[in-house]
This record gives sequence, C-alpha cells and structure tokens, in this order.
Amino acid sequence: MMQRFVGATVSVTGACRGIGRGIAERFAQEGADVIISDMSEAVKDTAKEIADKYKVKAVGTVVDVTNEEQVTGMYDMIAKDFGKLDVSVQNAGIITIQHFDKMSVSEFSKVVNVDAIGVWLCAREAAKIMVKQNKGRIINSSSGQGRKGFIYTPHYACAKMGVIGITQSLAIELAPHNITVNAFCPGIIVTNMWDYNDKVWGEMLSTPEKQYKKGELMQEWVDAIPLKRAGEPADVANVIAFLASDDAAYVTGQTINIDGGMFMN
Ligand SMILES: NC(=O)c1ccc[n+]([C@@H]2O[C@H](COP(=O)([O-])OP(=O)(O)OC[C@H]3O[C@@H](n4cnc5c(N)ncnc54)[C@H](O)[C@@H]3O)[C@@H](O)[C@H]2O)c1
Repeated sequence: MMQRFVGATVSVTGACRGIGRGIAERFAQEGADVIISDMSEAVKDTAKEIADKYKVKAVGTVVDVTNEEQVTGMYDMIAKDFGKLDVSVQNAGIITIQHFDKMSVSEFSKVVNVDAIGVWLCAREAAKIMVKQNKGRIINSSSGQGRKGFIYTPHYACAKMGVIGITQSLAIELAPHNITVNAFCPGIIVTNMWDYNDKVWGEMLSTPEKQYKKGELMQEWVDAIPLKRAGEPADVANVIAFLASDDAAYVTGQTINIDGGMFMN
C-alpha cells in the first residue's frame, strides 16, 4: 500500500459505515489522521477501530451535516486540535423512494438538506481553514443520480445534480487559493443504503407478472453494468485517494463516475 498521506489531516462525513468508512479507512491506511463524523453515535466505535488498526489518530465525532452549529463546531475543533485540514470529503447522504403523489415537501426538503446543503455547508467550513493555509482538497459525494434521474427519487436527483453545480462553482472561487474541488458519482455500491434501495424499489417496481424478491432488482441492475459487478466501498476509496493525492493537482471542478460503466456521461 502506498503511503501518500502520512501526516495529513483528513475529514470524512457520514463515515461510521459504508462508503464513508471505506474512504476513512483508506486514508488511515495511507498514514493520515482522520476526523470521522456521523450523526450516529456508532462513529465513536468506528474511529476507535480505525485508530487501533492503522495506528493513526482517528477522532469520531457526532455531527449532523444539516446542523450549522455542529458543523462549524467540528471544523473549529479540527483547526484547533490538528492545526490544518488537507482533505475534506463530504460523503454523508440519505435517500428515500416515494411515489410523486405521496412525496411531501418535508421529505423532499430533508433529502436536499442533507445531500446538497450539507455538502455545501461542510465544504464552506473546510474551505475557511484551507484558504488560510493556501492549500486543500474538497471532495463531494454525488451519485449516478447526479447524471440521470431514477424513478421515485426526484428529491435525491435534485440534490445529487446540485452537488455537481456546487462543486463547479466552488472550484472556480477556490482555485486562486490552491484548493481543488471535485465530486464523485458512485453507481451501485454494496452498503446499507443499497439494502434499502433493493427492498423499496423492488416492492414499488413489482407488477403482477414480476414480483421482485430480495436482491433480485439489484442483480437485474448489476447485470446491465458493463463491468458486471456491484462496487465495494474500497472501489470508491481508491478514486477518492487519487483525487486527494499530488497526482490530481491539475484536476478541479470535475465529477468522476465510479460505477463500472453504468453511466458514461
Ligand atoms: N451505496 C450506493 O450505491 C451509493 C450510490 C450513489 C451515491 N451514494 C452516496 O454515497 C454516500 C454514502 O452512502 P452509503 O451507501 O455509504 O450509505 P449508508 O447509509 O451506508 O451510510 C451513510 C452514512 O451517512 C450518515 N448520515 C446520514 N445522514 C446524515 C447527516 N445528516 N449527518 C451526518 N451523517 C449522516 C449515516 O448515519 C450513515 O452512517 C451518500 O451520499 C450516498 O448518497 C451511495
């Protein structure tokens, strides 16, 4: 394993499990100290496991990315306790799947608040530290739905397409400060989120002729992926580590798909 991030300070939101945890582990494996935040208390155990396994400093902190006070508090803590922030990964996100006539304004707003405004808010606070040090990497989670809307998820598609716009806008403003801002679009990655997607989309897309059983809808979608497999959090982490590395110094405002070829735009 390369050791590109020895001595670096890296923040990952929504990192107690799934893709976020995979990203935090990869940075720790390459020598970084990590600030792992999540709205779930379980993040503290995740941080301890990562610190023990990779012998780095790993701080687990409970932060809801929609709570401005908690978010600013976390970045203040990073500035004070670590003195710098090299990489900030805005990964926290949620999805719900709902028929158009049952989707309430509050359900729509909640997803946009977490998935788009939460990304922007964390990026804003990270950038304040990075501007002072004239260096930094901001990396935002979008989705395949940042490229193409799926059925029953207009709020999620709105938020994830929004993340691409946030990324491009900040990339221009922060470029003079030697900060790059990029986004990534996972396709089908095996996590708790996909358990939910498979179950709920499976139920909603079932017809009298075709009743989806557990795992069948996901398999059908995976079969349509050129590389013929679902992704793992490590597949995503590999690309994030590249975007955070010196090799990506001349890459900004970009959005990269990590989806086995599911989308090619
Ligand atoms: N799994 C996939 O196939 C897939 C595909 C495309 C995009 N994504 C995106 O990747 C990111 C991670 O997804 P995942 O599959 O690991 O999901 P997950 O549900 O396994 O993990 C998401 C984590 O984010 C946390 N979280 C949720 N709301 C939060 C909030 N308001 N503040 C702080 N933490 C919060 C959860 O507690 C959880 O630990 C999300 O942004 C998701 O939209 C995932």
